[in-house]
This record gives sequence, C-alpha cells and structure tokens, in this order.
Amino acid sequence: MGRLLGSRDTHLLAALLLRLWLGSGTCPCENPVLCNPISESREFEVRRNKVPYGNHVGVFVFDVGGKTWKLYDWSQITTVAAFGKYDPELMCYAHSKGSRVVLKGDIPLKKIVNPAARTAWINHQVALAKRQYMDGINIDIEQQVKKYSAKYYALTALVEEMTEAFHKEIPGSQVTFDVPWCPECIYKRVYNYTGIANSCDFVFVMSYDEQSQMWSRCILGANAPYNQTLAGYDNYIRIGINPKKLVMGVPWYGYDYTCRGLSKDPGGAFHQVWFDNPRSISLKAAYVKKRGLRGIGMWHADCLSYSGDSAAQGQTAAMWEALKPK
Ligand SMILES: *[C@@H]1O[C@H](CO)[C@@H](O)[C@H](O)[C@H]1NC(C)=O
Ligand SMILES: *[C@@H]1O[C@H](CO)[C@@H](O)[C@H](O)[C@H]1NC(C)=O
Repeated sequence: MGRLLGSRDTHLLAALLLRLWLGSGTCPCENPVLCNPISESREFEVRRNKVPYGNHVGVFVFDVGGKTWKLYDWSQITTVAAFGKYDPELMCYAHSKGSRVVLKGDIPLKKIVNPAARTAWINHQVALAKRQYMDGINIDIEQQVKKYSAKYYALTALVEEMTEAFHKEIPGSQVTFDVPWCPECIYKRVYNYTGIANSCDFVFVMSYDEQSQMWSRCILGANAPYNQTLAGYDNYIRIGINPKKLVMGVPWYGYDYTCRGLSKDPGGAFHQVWFDNPRSISLKAAYVKKRGLRGIGMWHADCLSYSGDSAAQGQTAAMWEALKPK
C-alpha cells in the first residue's frame, strides 16, 4: 500500500490526465505527416491531383460512423463530414487520400445570441478540431429563425466568426453550412442566406425531404424531384449566391409509404416507394457541372450496402459512379 497522494501530486496527476485527454499533440497516425491539415488554397475544394472532370467538382460526404468508410470511393472524395464518433483511423486515412475531415457543429441558437458565449463556443470548436487534427467544420443548424430576430443576426455572425477563426487558426481549413433545398421554402427557417454563403467557404444544399413542410396539400411524391431540386439552385443563384458557393446534396435514402386509399388493398400491401437511383443522380450531377456548382455530396454515404454480396457491390459502385458528371 503506497502513501496517499499529496495535493501537489494530485495536481500533477490532474495535469497529466488533462494532457492525455487533450491529446497533447500525440498524432494517432502511423505516419505523423498525416496529422497535418489539408492546406490547399480555399479557392479550390478539390486538390489539383484530384480534379477528375476539369471543373473543380468536389464530392462532399457525410459519414455517420462505423467502418464502412473503408469502402467509399476515395478517388472522388474531397471532404468527409464526420457526424459519427471521432475516428482517428478515418482522419489518418482521409489525409492519406488528400481528403479533408471536418467536424459537425450544432448548438441551440439561443445559446449563441450573446457575443461572448458565441466566441467561447467557436474557440471550443477550433480547439477540438486542432486536437483531433481535423480540417474544418460543417455547421448543421436546422432551427427555426424569424427574419430580423436576434437569432437571425446571431446565426449570420456565427458563420462569419467561425470562418474567420478557423481560417486563422488552421490555415487552409474549410467552414461550410447546411441550407435547405430552397431559400425560405421551409416553414420558419428564414436565414440571411446570402450573408451566410458569402462568409463561409460554401454551403451544402440539402436537396431532399422536399415534400416536408410544404405550403400546399400534403400528397406524397418524390423525395427530391428533379425540377423542384433545380429550381432551388436557381433561386439561390437569383438571390445573389455564386454557384461556386453551392454544393448539391442528393439523397442516398428513400421513403416507403403504405397506401391508405386503395379499395382493393385491405392488407396494406400497396406501397409507393420513392428514392433516387444512379440514373436520377446522374441527371443532377450533369446539372452541377453545367451550372458550375462547387460540387456534389450525399446524405449519407453509409446508407448504401457495402457488403460482399455481388449485387450490392454493383449497385453501390453505380451510386458512387453517378456522382461524376458525364
Ligand atoms: C446579410 O448579411 C450581410 C453580411 O453580414 C449583411 O451585409 C446584409 O445586410 C444582411 N442582409 C440581410 C437581409 O439581413
Ligand atoms: C420539368 O421541367 C421541364 C422543362 O421545363 C418540363 O418540360 C417538364 O414537364 C417538367 N416535369 C415535371 C414533372 O414537372
């Protein structure tokens, strides 16, 4: 039985644990070079050796955890937004492929209306990114905001200040913000979209769930209908957002509805199923190129099957392939 720890010892121990907990600069990658952030000039989302189509179209991927990232098509990926638990192995691997890995940022807006509280939260995110050797942040705040309210101004300021802090503290880092499929098309989500898009590196447009919160009668339809999706981008461009600030989000999931009104269907056997497939995604990718958008991405990459089954392998490969504008 050793002696009891004195108060000086406990302080030292606490400091040591804190250092361990903070990572203390210990790079988790086999090759320490892989802990360096990807520091390509922020004008180009895509590294020069990774420009497959000449038009700087990047692929922005949402990862929600697990290990299926090992089977992504890394030849296309420019950024992974890590929405799952922090995975140092993913960070090292992405960096080895020249891809950025970014944090998820979300907070109740009422907590950042106060400028000092906002700064504290931003500093916390920057410190977290540094500690985990990450390359930026994807701000995913999908909250109701009224025009010209305190939250409205705080949100615009948050994006401006977050971008400034990240660019200063992690050179070449990337700050992005998720916006709905169309500006002011979702009930009570009124943001300063031009202010937000201008101050960050680019916005990720969530072109899916387009039937939700519509003004008209609620009748089911496609999750991300082609014409309506494109109209959303035309709207963003019309209000003054540069196409190079827009990344198109496509759904890699669908909806299965049980039909209620069919007279010959007492057993609920009739369904309507809506989803995007490689063909519909290819058409959208063609628009990305034609309209000169920044890139394309999906919610989310782990929706596909990455099993060894040969049918699944073929279909999954086709979904990735569809992201390349022909
Ligand atoms: C949006 O934000 C920008 C940049 O902060 C500002 O100049 C502009 O006045 C804002 N527009 C509206 C409508 O709030
Ligand atoms: C989509 O837009 C095209 C071109 O404007 C039009 O011809 C077509 O009918 C539209 N399709 C639907 C389903 O609205």
